[in-house]
Amino acid sequence: MAGFDNLTKYSPSTGSGSPNVWGVYEAATGSIQYIVACPDTKKAVVIDAVLNFDTKSASTTTRSAEYLLGLIDQNGLTLERILDTHPHADHVMASHWLKQKTGCPNAIGAKTRNIAAMWRDFYNLPNGLNCDDCFDAMFEHGDTFEVGNLTFSVILSAGHTMASISYLVGDAGFIHDTLMVPDCGSSRADFPGGSTEDLWNSIQAILALPDDTRLFIGHDYGKGERTEPMWEATVAEHKAHNAHVGNGTPKADFIRTREERDATLALPDRMLHALQMNLCAGALPEAEADGQSYLKIPLNRF
Ligand SMILES: [Fe+2]
Repeated sequence: MAGFDNLTKYSPSTGSGSPNVWGVYEAATGSIQYIVACPDTKKAVVIDAVLNFDTKSASTTTRSAEYLLGLIDQNGLTLERILDTHPHADHVMASHWLKQKTGCPNAIGAKTRNIAAMWRDFYNLPNGLNCDDCFDAMFEHGDTFEVGNLTFSVILSAGHTMASISYLVGDAGFIHDTLMVPDCGSSRADFPGGSTEDLWNSIQAILALPDDTRLFIGHDYGKGERTEPMWEATVAEHKAHNAHVGNGTPKADFIRTREERDATLALPDRMLHALQMNLCAGALPEAEADGQSYLKIPLNRF
């Protein structure tokens, strides 16, 4: 939704083990970036930070990531980790830039290796997209880590991509492109390696969390009568009202609705740019002899 760039909403901790959460909107791609902090120690992570990318000029800026660092500073937080949920197709990730800037380790899901293998073929970059060299941690389903007094656990949430992971911490879940806001339903599952059936299974696992779990999603493009973007709803709210899975929707109905909708969607306008960078944590390709970076775009492949 245009006009809402850097719109920030704060969702406070609800008690012991529950994080303080700031969601920050990036208007050009309708993405939500998160800062998640331990209320006791002020140690924090960022999730799905955006590197701003202008498609017309193919230029990057760090406006959004700098805003996040400013917010971290203003709130007296200490950044400990830079996390992503999946190799995004619609925006470039700021992971590499933030790592250079702060020295904090970055991470993504281990199955990103499988996506990199697929795109190595699409881009004909047989020696490129070495995600293991670009991320300090590649999380497996079931991995856990501590940030201050918070315990994060990682669950595989495949469907939108085969490598998508969610981060669960206390009563909060960062579930990226699985569910959308309740009135929009769910995220697309038609990218290479996506699966509507896997998305259904991932959503069922998320909806099996306690009813009062605060779920934070990856995108809002605005819809209907809403006047500003939103991104937080509880498991109970999704179970009752979600347009694609709420009110006891049967699996077959979800699969049909999702596949019919996906058949109408154009590819994201940044997809071929973004994935080439995101499989390297959003780093620009290595500069050539003239000191400039170049992307390689496959023609007539999609
Ligand atoms: Fe995505």
